[in-house]
Amino acid sequence: MKVLCYGSLNLDHIYNVLEFIRPGETLQALSVEQHCGGKGFNQAVAAAKAGLPVYLAGCIGPDGGIFREICRTVGVDDTYLHEENLPTGSAVIQVNQRGENCILLYGGANQAVTEEQIEQTLGNFQPGDVLIAQNEISQLPKLLSCAEKRGLRIAWNPSPMNEKITPDMLSSVNWLFVNEVEAEQLCGSNQPEICLDRLSALCPKGAVILTLGSAGSCYAGPEGHFFQPAFSVQAVDTTAAGDTFTGYFLASILKDGVPQSALELASKASALAVTRKGAYDSIPWKREVDRTALN
Ligand code: RIB
Repeated sequence: MKVLCYGSLNLDHIYNVLEFIRPGETLQALSVEQHCGGKGFNQAVAAAKAGLPVYLAGCIGPDGGIFREICRTVGVDDTYLHEENLPTGSAVIQVNQRGENCILLYGGANQAVTEEQIEQTLGNFQPGDVLIAQNEISQLPKLLSCAEKRGLRIAWNPSPMNEKITPDMLSSVNWLFVNEVEAEQLCGSNQPEICLDRLSALCPKGAVILTLGSAGSCYAGPEGHFFQPAFSVQAVDTTAAGDTFTGYFLASILKDGVPQSALELASKASALAVTRKGAYDSIPWKREVDRTALN
């Protein structure tokens, strides 16, 4: 079985602020840092740090060489990464004193993914292999339909949610990862149990994994419904917490098929990620997750 994460790579400019800036305001940041991120990159790194061999596909610009270097360091295969004559995607991220963030994205090379690239890349994968996707690249409907046609199992985190995501796109998904805001946008309820039922009906082939921040996470799939309380930590930066959860959950479920242990491991890894600043670099290695005791 091969695992392909097809998604975005962003240069993240992270501004630490007391409070988020408001319209018309000029605000001094407390500090600024540059990190590598993007939901596709972060999820591939999380899966690799959790011990899953993973390929990363997507587009960077001439300024994106650092992503290849990091892929080599963390063990992500970058064979299917294309270089385009456009700037690498970027994000301006404000992180406030409570560790919450807000993100302004510039798609750049992430929006240069073509149907041909998708066909060519997926041509190297077989029925039963796994695609991990998000919503920060061009040609997403093509990516999902091509993966379905080739018999790949699809893990989809339709984030950031926008008008391009429609409920009918869930029909081919094997693992759907959403937070409470995304779930409400997709199914019109803010009640976790109702969301799980409605989303499960929309994804008849698969399982729904709903993350609720500090309220925990839930799983609804053929094995049943399970709840995992969140581990209690002091959050300094929630950037990439959801990506850490997705990568770790998949690494665990693909290894032993047990949703309860996948939820627990993913919750612990993402709890550790929010105690650190940054994007991909806040994602812990499996050995750190294993040796850290959290309540
Ligand atoms: O999920 C966090 C990521 O969202 C950041 O790294 C940023 O690049 C945006 O894609």
